Amino acid sequence: RMEKSKKYQDIHLEAARFYFANLLKGKNPGYDYLRKRGLDDKTIKKFGLGFSQKSWNELMDYLLSKGYDKQDLVQCGLVNHKSEGNKYYDRFRNRVMFPIFDYRGNVIGFGGRVLDDSLPKYLNSPDSLIFNKRYNLYGLNFSRKNIVDRTIILVEGYMDLISLFQYGVRNVVATLGTALTEQQGNLIKRYADTAIISYDSDEAGIKATLRAIEILSKIGINVKVINLKDCKDPDEFVRKYGLEEYKKAIGDSTHYIKFRIDHLKKSFNLQKDEERVKFAKEASKIIKELKSPVEVDYYTNYIAKQINISTESIKKEVYGKDYNKV
Ligand code: CTP
Ligand code: MN
Ligand code: MN
Ligand code: MN
Ligand code: MN
Repeated sequence: RMEKSKKYQDIHLEAARFYFANLLKGKNPGYDYLRKRGLDDKTIKKFGLGFSQKSWNELMDYLLSKGYDKQDLVQCGLVNHKSEGNKYYDRFRNRVMFPIFDYRGNVIGFGGRVLDDSLPKYLNSPDSLIFNKRYNLYGLNFSRKNIVDRTIILVEGYMDLISLFQYGVRNVVATLGTALTEQQGNLIKRYADTAIISYDSDEAGIKATLRAIEILSKIGINVKVINLKDCKDPDEFVRKYGLEEYKKAIGDSTHYIKFRIDHLKKSFNLQKDEERVKFAKEASKIIKELKSPVEVDYYTNYIAKQINISTESIKKEVYGKDYNKV
């Protein structure tokens, strides 16, 4: 099994080198694409970005010529097998290639992006002997040496992380679009006590943020959420406003309790009395989860201020009959 893992890592490294060489060969559409998106040569090299040609078998033929076994290429998820007609063909075709590393820097998978807006936008390696999405954080191999004050920034995508690195923000990891898992949360805990979530500002990003808050706060990580103003993701933000503004946004990031209260508030029409009451009740449930009395006090006041209800009555709502004991 150890030997097999090593072999699969070798296969991935060969594939990454192959895709990288493609990118630099002559005039390459993948290279033009990445340059148009603002990445410089140094960044492209650091992250080992590459290109898979519009071909059904270029990678397969190359790796077979290197002596690797076809079945291993299938097990690595680099080659697909269609039992009908017993056909083998490259999984990644005509895509910009992002090698996925483990925390040590071994290539264990790939993400491939189309050059236009066809679907699916990204195609990823399936889980394999050496790649388990739930346990991996993209970019950790680069960021773990750059984590200071045990604070880590969480982003959704390849381009978010790579852009931030190029601009000089280097304590970042990406969850690659999927919801953060408990295993990824535990991995974060090894390196950080504070996580700043910088997911996309669309509805999917907000949903993923709420889920990540749930997982991370349960593990005992101090969670904050960044505000990206009018931008859809951190890549767009840092390109539009630059490094200093992004750092400022990090400094201004919202404590997760306030983020949850603010999110909750959006689903009520606070002009109406009965909705204000409903909001107060729902917000009280959030307060109930807090252990620190100082936090309870602070966020109770915050809720009270939003709707002009006394702090007293919210505390009664939170603690019920036990109110006098608090
Ligand atoms: N993703 C994926 N498959 C998709 C769409 C997204 O695996 N079909 C993952 C990718 O890791 C992607 C991340 O989810 O980086 C975030 O998705 P999205 O916000 O849609 O893409 P961006 O990262 O913003 O990519 P780009 O800027 O290139 O459009
Ligand atoms: Mn997104
Ligand atoms: Mn919502
Ligand atoms: Mn993007
Ligand atoms: Mn995005």
